[in-house]
Amino acid sequence: MRHHIVAGNWKMNKNAEQTEDLLNALIDQLPQDKAVEIIVAPTFINLASAVDHLEYTNISVAAQNMHEAESGAFTGEISADMLKSIGVNTVILGHSERRTIFHETDAIIAAKVDKALQHQMRVIFCFGEELKDRKDDQHFNVVENQLRDGLFHLDKTAWESIVLAYEPVWAIGTGETASPEQAQEMHQFIRETIRKAYGSDIAEAVSILYGGSVKPDNAAEIFSKPDVDGGLIGGAALKAEDFAAIVNAI
Ligand code: PGA
Repeated sequence: MRHHIVAGNWKMNKNAEQTEDLLNALIDQLPQDKAVEIIVAPTFINLASAVDHLEYTNISVAAQNMHEAESGAFTGEISADMLKSIGVNTVILGHSERRTIFHETDAIIAAKVDKALQHQMRVIFCFGEELKDRKDDQHFNVVENQLRDGLFHLDKTAWESIVLAYEPVWAIGTGETASPEQAQEMHQFIRETIRKAYGSDIAEAVSILYGGSVKPDNAAEIFSKPDVDGGLIGGAALKAEDFAAIVNAI
């Protein structure tokens, strides 16, 4: 069901000790009483300890990626079953760094989505255009195609397990954010695209997060837009004060 979510994608940051320190700071500083779901995504090797550490808190844990196969000869990879076995029930898929640096195609991401859903995991599905797409006025087409190729093979019931994260690539880690108006325009387009494919019930029920240089000083304005249901936060998720300020901006 559509609700506010703030998720922190820690990427390849924080060793075991630093993970524990940041989790302790978050437990101290994050609000207990806000109607917002809070998720953190540390690196794979710190997921199990994070799940233990956060057991009696309102913060849950997501993985940043997983492999699309059930198991087998995939050196260095992590499966959905492994994540579930340590109590991780949410996975971020299709992040632009996975798409560009690690060459994940829409087809690979679609296969990962299917595998995660087979294991009753929830998916935070990331997508968004590059700067050249926006300059060429192709951003709506690119976003529609990513949605179609990554998710539109799903049946209606599967959408209960999908959270969307629109992340314009030109805004990730660059300090440049989409303006609140640009975010709203795209989020509205995304909801409309889902409405056309699946109907109003599903379009209204899906949470659509914005990601890309969300910081304490711009979060409130972005989150105030009617189709923005929260954020996927990179850099600012690595400092407890900043992440708490962003959660409080909801
Ligand atoms: P950023 O990253 O907040 O550092 O721009 C966002 C993301 O990659 O999810």
